[in-house]
Amino acid sequence: MTDMTTNADEATRLRNEMIDELRNQGDITSPEVEAVMRKVPRDRFTPPGLALAEVYDPWSAVITKTSAHGVQTSSVSAPQVQGFMLEQAKIKPGMNVLEIGSGGLNAAYLAELVGPEGSVTTVDIDPEVTERAERLLLENGYDRVRVVTADAAEPVPGLGVADVILVTVGAWDIPPAWTHQLNPQGRLVVPLRTRGLTRSVAFVLDGDHLESESAKVCGFVPMQGATEHHEQLLLVAGTEEIGLRFDDGVPIKPSQLDDAVTTPRIETWTGVTIGRREPLATLQMHLAITVPGFCIMSVDAEKDSGIVAPTKLGFSLAAVSDDSFAYLVHRPSGDTDVEYGVHALGRHAQQLADNLTESLRDWAAHRRGGPVPVIRAYPASTPDDQIVGDRVIDKVHSRISLSWPAV
Ligand SMILES: C[S@@+](CC[C@H](N)C(=O)[O-])C[C@H]1O[C@@H](n2cnc3c(N)ncnc32)[C@H](O)[C@@H]1O
Repeated sequence: MTDMTTNADEATRLRNEMIDELRNQGDITSPEVEAVMRKVPRDRFTPPGLALAEVYDPWSAVITKTSAHGVQTSSVSAPQVQGFMLEQAKIKPGMNVLEIGSGGLNAAYLAELVGPEGSVTTVDIDPEVTERAERLLLENGYDRVRVVTADAAEPVPGLGVADVILVTVGAWDIPPAWTHQLNPQGRLVVPLRTRGLTRSVAFVLDGDHLESESAKVCGFVPMQGATEHHEQLLLVAGTEEIGLRFDDGVPIKPSQLDDAVTTPRIETWTGVTIGRREPLATLQMHLAITVPGFCIMSVDAEKDSGIVAPTKLGFSLAAVSDDSFAYLVHRPSGDTDVEYGVHALGRHAQQLADNLTESLRDWAAHRRGGPVPVIRAYPASTPDDQIVGDRVIDKVHSRISLSWPAV
C-alpha cells in the first residue's frame, strides 16, 4: 500500500467518525445531507499539510485567510455548522441555489444535493477566495458550479430566482437583494447578528416579511463590503479597562458612566442554578429581548484593576441603564451546577441588579428548555404598528423583531 492510499483510508475513517458524531448530536438529521458529507472529501478543500485530525474535527473551522490586521476573513466552515445549515436549507434535487461566501467544499455539497437538474452559484467578494474555490471545485469534478466574484449584498447577475439562498458569512443586516432574488416559496438561511448574538436563521417569506423556521447558535467571519457593520465599544469611565460592546447602537451617553466606577459594587445571587452543560441560547436571547440596555462586557486582562470581577474576562452578558451598568456572573453550586448572580455599579445599581435578577428568574420559570424565539425581518420602511414582536431592532435595510412563541 502506498502512503497516498493509507492517507485516503485514514481520511475516510475520520470523515465517517465525524459524521457519526454529528448524527448523534442531532446536527445532521437527513439521509441526504449525511450521504453528501460522507461522499465529498473535506481534506481536498482544506489547505495542504493540515493534520487530518484537524480537518475532521467536527467543531472547528479551518481558517484560510487572515487580514493584515489579524482579522479572520475566510475559512472552510466547521463541519457541525455546515451540517446543520444544510439541514436548515432543506435542499431538493433540481433547485437553483445561491451560496454567499465561497470556500469550495460547501458548494460541492450543494452541487451533490441539487443533482444534475439543479444549479449552484457561489459568490465571494474576495477574488483570492473565488480563484481558490473555482480551482478546487474543478479539480474535484464540480465544474457545473458557477463561481462569481462580487459583493453579494447586491443582486447577483444571471442568477434568476433562487430556491435557496445560503449565506455562509456573518450578516448584521438583510439587504433587499436577498429577498428580491428569492422564490416566494424559497428559503433564506443566514447567520444573523442581533444585539451581539449570532444565530443561523432559516427564514421563509410570509407576505411582506421573513419569518424564522429555525435558529441555531453559530459564529462566522463578518460580511465585508456595502453591508459591513462594526459594533460600538463604550469604554467605561474613558479607561481601556472595561469595554461594553453594543451591536445596534449605544443607548446612553458614554460620559454617563464616568462616576459608576467610584460607587461600591453590589453583588447579588439569584438562586437560579444552571447545569454546566445546559445550553444558554434561550437565556442569552431572553436577556436580549427583555433588558433594554443589553450589551456584552469584556475586560482587558492587562489593565484589569478589579473594579469589576466577571466570571470570564472576555465575555459577560451585561446591561446599562442611565448612570449604571451591571453584568452576570456565576459560581459553583454542587458538583454539576452553577448559580447565576449579578454585579452592578453606579447610582442606580440596585435597581439595575433587581431588573436583571427578575429577567433571569423569568427565564428560569418560563423559557428554560423551551423553544427559541421567533425572528422576523421586515423592510426598513415598515411602520411600528405592522411589526409583530417583543423587541424591534433597527438595521439599515431591515427591521428585525424578536418574540417568544406562545407557550
Ligand atoms: C466562512 S467563509 C465561507 C465558507 C464556505 N462557504 C465553505 O465552503 O466553508 C465566508 C466568506 O464570505 C466572504 N464574504 C464576506 N463578505 C462578503 C460579501 N459582501 N459578499 C460575498 N462574500 C463575502 C469572505 O470573503 C469569506 O470568504
